[in-house]
This record gives sequence, structure tokens and C-alpha cells, in this order.
Amino acid sequence: MKLDFKFVDAKSILKIRHQVLRKGRPLSTCHFNGDNLSDTFHFAAYINDEVVGCVSLMLKSNSKIQDKQSYQLRGMAVLEKYQGQKIGQQLLHHAEKHLISKNIKLVWCNVRIKAIPFYRKNQYQQLGDDFNIPEVGPHVLMFKSLE
Ligand SMILES: CC(C)(COP(=O)(O)OP(=O)(O)OC[C@H]1O[C@@H](n2cnc3c(N)ncnc32)[C@H](O)[C@@H]1OP(=O)(O)O)[C@@H](O)C(=O)NCCC(=O)NCCS
Repeated sequence: MKLDFKFVDAKSILKIRHQVLRKGRPLSTCHFNGDNLSDTFHFAAYINDEVVGCVSLMLKSNSKIQDKQSYQLRGMAVLEKYQGQKIGQQLLHHAEKHLISKNIKLVWCNVRIKAIPFYRKNQYQQLGDDFNIPEVGPHVLMFKSLE
């Protein structure tokens, strides 16, 4: 199984966001604010021509974290049939490496409760209690220093 990582535009990952993150909801819910900004990056993991995973990085600080230039990691998804094969982890590392190459020192994300163990395994720390994102569910804030 050969996995390739590519920079893509937001429209290339709408379908997988929909299938994995917004199942049963309108496709319009898969557009995120900031998707098309010039400092936003989207990565897709491909097997042959199929998008099997995706993640987006947006330049955004979080008021709970004291860091001037941090990125928010969003829309992390691996197609269900490919989950548990380290594709998510490789995609995450790929995204982090890109941020390090841009001299970004911190990455943070709002994590679904179910996905907390995945981020913990990848050295993300939780900050504060859980909170609700309307129509998506409970999340926690997690972050990782890239220094
Ligand atoms: C969360 C997600 C991106 C992880 O990707 P993945 O390819 O399935 O995960 P990986 O195979 O790379 O897992 C890496 C490690 O995390 C662990 N892990 C992944 N998901 C886990 C979970 N839900 N619970 C416990 N451990 C988990 C794996 O067991 C593995 O640990 P190991 O190194 O000890 O074997 C993927 O399962 C997914 O898309 N889930 C649905 C959408 C979602 O929740 N996205 C995150 C939004 S915040």
C-alpha cells in the first residue's frame, strides 16, 4: 500500500470531510472558515488516486494559549476502512513537519472526545475541560509544542 501526501485545495477534501466528519449533514457544513486563505494549508493522503485522509492547518491563535504564531489543526479525517493503519499518525506528522519548516512553534486543535487517545499518543496535551461545539459535539482543547 503506497501512501502519498499532497498539498491540495479545500475542494479536494470536501468529500472525505463529509464522509468522515459530517456524515448525514449537508455538504455545506464541510466548508470551514479560513479554508481559502493564503496561509491555510490542506494535506491529503492518497492511495493510488483515492483520497484516504486529510488534515487542514490554519494560522490562528487561541486565547487560552499564550503563543503569538500558532496554527490550528482542523478536519483530521481518515476514511473508515483505512482507520487504524497509522495513516492518521503519518498525516499528523507530515502536517507538523510542514509547520516546523515554517518556524511555527505551536499547534492546537479542538479534539472530539473519541479522538483524544490518538492525539495523546502523538504528544498532544489537554488544556481545560470539555466544551460543546454546536451540532458536532463535545471537544477538548489540545496542543503540542513544536520546539
Ligand atoms: C482519529 C483518526 C484521524 C485517527 O487516524 P487513524 O489512521 O485511524 O489512526 P492511527 O492508525 O494513525 O493511530 C495512531 C495511534 O493512535 C491510536 N488511536 C487512533 N484512534 C484511536 C482511538 N479512537 N482510540 C484509541 N486509540 C486510538 C492507535 O491505536 C495508534 O496507536 P499505536 O501507535 O499505539 O498503535 C481517525 O480514526 C478518524 O478519522 N476518526 C474519525 C474522525 C475523527 O475523530 N477525527 C478527529 C477529529 S478531532
